Amino acid sequence: MPPAAVTLQNATVGTSSPVEQLAPNPVFLSTEPGPEFDWKISLRGKVIAITGANRGIGLGLATVCLANDAAEVYSLDLFEPGEEFQALANANPKRLRYLHCDVTSEENVLKVVDDIVAESGRIDGMVANAGMTKHQPALKFDRPQLEQLFNLNVYGAYFCATAAAKKFIELGIKGSIVFTASMTSYRPNRAAPSAPYGGTKGAVRNMAHTFAMEWASHGIRVNSISPGFVRTQMTYYVEKAADWNLKMQYYGGMPRLADPRELGGAYVYLLSDCASYTTGIDIPVAGIVGAW
Ligand SMILES: NC(=O)c1ccc[n+]([C@@H]2O[C@H](COP(=O)([O-])OP(=O)(O)OC[C@H]3O[C@@H](n4cnc5c(N)ncnc54)[C@H](O)[C@@H]3O)[C@@H](O)[C@H]2O)c1
Repeated sequence: MPPAAVTLQNATVGTSSPVEQLAPNPVFLSTEPGPEFDWKISLRGKVIAITGANRGIGLGLATVCLANDAAEVYSLDLFEPGEEFQALANANPKRLRYLHCDVTSEENVLKVVDDIVAESGRIDGMVANAGMTKHQPALKFDRPQLEQLFNLNVYGAYFCATAAAKKFIELGIKGSIVFTASMTSYRPNRAAPSAPYGGTKGAVRNMAHTFAMEWASHGIRVNSISPGFVRTQMTYYVEKAADWNLKMQYYGGMPRLADPRELGGAYVYLLSDCASYTTGIDIPVAGIVGAW
């Protein structure tokens, strides 16, 4: 499938002052839908890469992208996929693939993006989702622990976004990049102390604004999603806490964790062409309770 046709539009209309006459007119790749646009929110024909989609939130997102007609979804993950991934792959023949990738290596990420284009002819969306946390009091963190968190959550997300942007620009594709941030980018996780994790997620949410500004002229949109508590291996401890029922009784909101697939609609929207004027924002998906 060839990349979408490139439509370069002139951003300025007319020139009058001597300064304007000297400056070259900027051009931009407009994301504005054309007259024949199908306004149904859909990922029809799109090739989407999701980091860390072998399990957890990433796998939930892959499920919802496939349910909304994504042509192909690639999981870029460090570890071999398990049974849950295999079951989804079997239910969607040739539409869900795993590529080994360590997102903390820029070289590795660039290569995998090249491999996707070699295999599928294009790439339309990149979800920088792989991440990790560590719960302990701030005064106990040592430098190697901090570096591990920032390497994966910040550097990894940065490499994925920039690798995708380079490829979108090279192919003239109006791509979409979505980061998985976190409600901890706004406020502390009161269920477990994790100051560096909140810092990494604040960085990710903030980077999306500037990427969105820098790459808008290329027709590239960049946004983030901030989940609250989602039921994955990262949050196994939350429902086991002795005071969980008490917290739920007094906190209000939805007294449960989310199924990873419940986040998917927000990602599908941001990855779709219906979000043509949506860039530089964060969507919290937290059921109130995860917004502690
Ligand atoms: N679970 C939650 O409640 C929650 C809430 C807010 C934000 N998040 C964020 O959502 C994202 C996914 O979390 P999850 O709960 O699904 O975690 P998870 O641990 O279940 O899944 C993380 C995935 O990332 C992969 N991964 C780890 N290191 C990698 C690397 N270097 N390169 C490529 N892949 C790598 C893992 O193999 C795994 O498949 C993370 O960024 C996390 O911070 C999770």
